[in-house]
Amino acid sequence: MSEKKGVGDFVVAGGTPALAEILPVGQLYFPSWDRYEAAMRDIFDRRYYTNHGPLLERLEARLEERFSVRHAICVTNATVGLIMVAKAFFRDGKILLPGFTFVGTAQSVSIAGLEPVFCDVDASTHHITPDTLEAAFEGGVRALLGVNLWGGAVDFGAIDAYARSKNVPVFYDSAHGIGSQIGGKSLGGNGLAEVFSFHATKVLGSTEGGCICTNDDDLAALLRNMRCGYGMGRIVEVPVTTNGRMSEAQAAIALMSLDDLDEHIARNQRLATAYEEELGDIPGFSVCKPTGVDSTNRQYFVCEIDDRVLKLTRDEMAKILKAENIYARRYFFPGVHRSVPYRSEFPQYLDRLPTTDALCSKLLQLPIGALVTEEHVRKIGNVVREASRNAEGLRKHLR
Ligand SMILES: Cc1ncc(COP(=O)(O)O)c(C=O)c1O
Repeated sequence: MSEKKGVGDFVVAGGTPALAEILPVGQLYFPSWDRYEAAMRDIFDRRYYTNHGPLLERLEARLEERFSVRHAICVTNATVGLIMVAKAFFRDGKILLPGFTFVGTAQSVSIAGLEPVFCDVDASTHHITPDTLEAAFEGGVRALLGVNLWGGAVDFGAIDAYARSKNVPVFYDSAHGIGSQIGGKSLGGNGLAEVFSFHATKVLGSTEGGCICTNDDDLAALLRNMRCGYGMGRIVEVPVTTNGRMSEAQAAIALMSLDDLDEHIARNQRLATAYEEELGDIPGFSVCKPTGVDSTNRQYFVCEIDDRVLKLTRDEMAKILKAENIYARRYFFPGVHRSVPYRSEFPQYLDRLPTTDALCSKLLQLPIGALVTEEHVRKIGNVVREASRNAEGLRKHLR
């Protein structure tokens, strides 16, 4: 493992990697094997593996208490949760959402049989604003789907006021947001519903999983009955059913992860502070702090590259880091409006989202989470700093 001092130390120029093993982006916090084994034994002893079991009930009650919401409805993953919320309300029509998001946000709208309408985002917060919504709002839009990114959030007051002015509801993809807080209150109770992801890469992980939070009793009854084919809780007629159940194994892991959530967040915050100290003064390489919240879970560590100043493009920096076993990610890339099938189905958005296009070409996610240590952060800082100092020389090796 080498400390970088000049061009020849970089792997792209024949040097040895900064890290001996690959370091991915993604939280990957997991309970110890002993705790995991005990939890699985407990399930096997009970022989109750799925179908709204006791662990799922406990998990939902704890999420409701912790996030101060009337209903937490756990599901297979956030994508299924978003499909269910969209389908619960609308049979047809359009949903307005940002093009700067994970493709699953838009796919959930399409799978629900609705048409996505894409808007741009603000360049500094990366979130939707009333202005970006207004520029894209069109006839047939039945709801707004806001996306809360990186452990930050939209300006809920402004978005709610805009939604009211248009007389449409708003719901949120909060896949990144579990545990982030505004005024001491966790995300969860905004809009009609907020949908969280418990994917392994998230700060609260259950391998796969997710949760729909809502304070609306009627929506909750619909969702609980849509989650499986035979009804659940207060029985109501639903437009469609699916299998969105969370298994007892997933619920057990989510419960352990919830026990550890504050610890995970505190650790992420320490790592983020260490990164900020390492990367704070590199011209052309800036750290994007999550906005709109007072306390962030630091789900992602996002950096922005100005290639005119750094003299390396984002893609060149990603390539240099990957060769060093640092698997930084271009997230989101491409913008959803440029991905299949939207780029051919709705080509009108290709020249309407300039900020999304710019962000997709300059943001880079650095690893943060369970596998990352402060020593890794120091080494990553060394690679980025020396790459920026030796940009001209390194570029020759990237051709
Ligand atoms: C913004 C956003 N929405 C939705 C999802 C989908 O979450 P899941 O994998 O739980 O379906 C992700 C996944 O990372 C995401 O980043």
